[in-house]
Amino acid sequence: MNAPNPVLKGLDVRAEIDRLRVERKAVVLAHYYQAPEIQDLADFVGDSLDLSRKAQATDAEVIAFCGVRFMAETAKILSPDKIVVLPDMNAGCSLEDSCPPDQFRAFREAHPDHIALTYINSSAEVKALSDIIVTSSSAETILAQIPESQKIIFGPDKHLGGWLARKTGRDMLLWPGTCIVHEAFSETELLKLKAQYPGAPVLAHPECPGHILDHADYVGATSGILKYALEAEGDIFIVATEPHIIHQMEKAAPDKTFIGAPGADGNCNCNMCPYMALNTLEKLYVALRDLEPRIEMAESLRLEAKKSLDRMLEMAAHTVGKGDVGKPHITGD
Ligand code: 13P
Ligand code: SF4
Repeated sequence: MNAPNPVLKGLDVRAEIDRLRVERKAVVLAHYYQAPEIQDLADFVGDSLDLSRKAQATDAEVIAFCGVRFMAETAKILSPDKIVVLPDMNAGCSLEDSCPPDQFRAFREAHPDHIALTYINSSAEVKALSDIIVTSSSAETILAQIPESQKIIFGPDKHLGGWLARKTGRDMLLWPGTCIVHEAFSETELLKLKAQYPGAPVLAHPECPGHILDHADYVGATSGILKYALEAEGDIFIVATEPHIIHQMEKAAPDKTFIGAPGADGNCNCNMCPYMALNTLEKLYVALRDLEPRIEMAESLRLEAKKSLDRMLEMAAHTVGKGDVGKPHITGD
């Protein structure tokens, strides 16, 4: 899938990226799930919304988004005057794929008395069809502002929706999408790991199914998981999210041990996001050189999608970027 490009043989790709990022006035963003060599050269490493907001605040002319397509689209929605490139346009997301706009529109039409709260892991078209976008860190705050009597469709992640429903007691109509990465963790293997490391807190992303979240000491977005891992006492942590985030943990806390929660085969390779893995340094170099592949979007679509994104930013100004959806049962709390 990612064989070296023979045309680039002998080229110092890292040095060329450094040259081009200056020449192009580009800001390079990397999500926590990107390979370490990409995280290490990025201007900002972070969660999806935070990255787009950081890029928006710069005077860069180009955003090179090492992440997946919906993230780069979010960056374009917030920064229409900047060129946004994604190193590999095939870097999609199973959550986005699970929610085709036509089907989502039909679902909404079938439930006219419901408003649509939509996870940011969705296409620009689905955002445009939604009322309020949420991140895993802002969802609870936003839900608290919606009257109990208001019926809600939550999509596309049924696990995040289920987690929120359990935490808040809200009965929401859940779109049946899932993240193939977080679905792959094995409860049996996780329990074996917990037995091997008694007392090691389990940190989990709310995209995990309930049977994994049931064993978590902390549940939160990537930025919240990272913060918790660095600030909490303890030497060993079990991390139930895409394992590339461990790179930042090990850099910031070299004395602590972070263990990726296993998949069914007992190791965590099946929990690597195959979409994120499509981005490589070589493709980043080509994207900066050619300013392609580029995120393009009709202005009418951008403005419609921005409305629901702006609603989140207004309703959750103080939580957006904080990465926390709660502590279900933190040891010693
Ligand atoms: P956050 O970084 O917003 O927690 O999202 C996790 C994820 O799965 C991104 O695709
Ligand atoms: Fe999508 Fe899951 Fe990959 Fe995130 S980890 S980009 S939710 S498939």
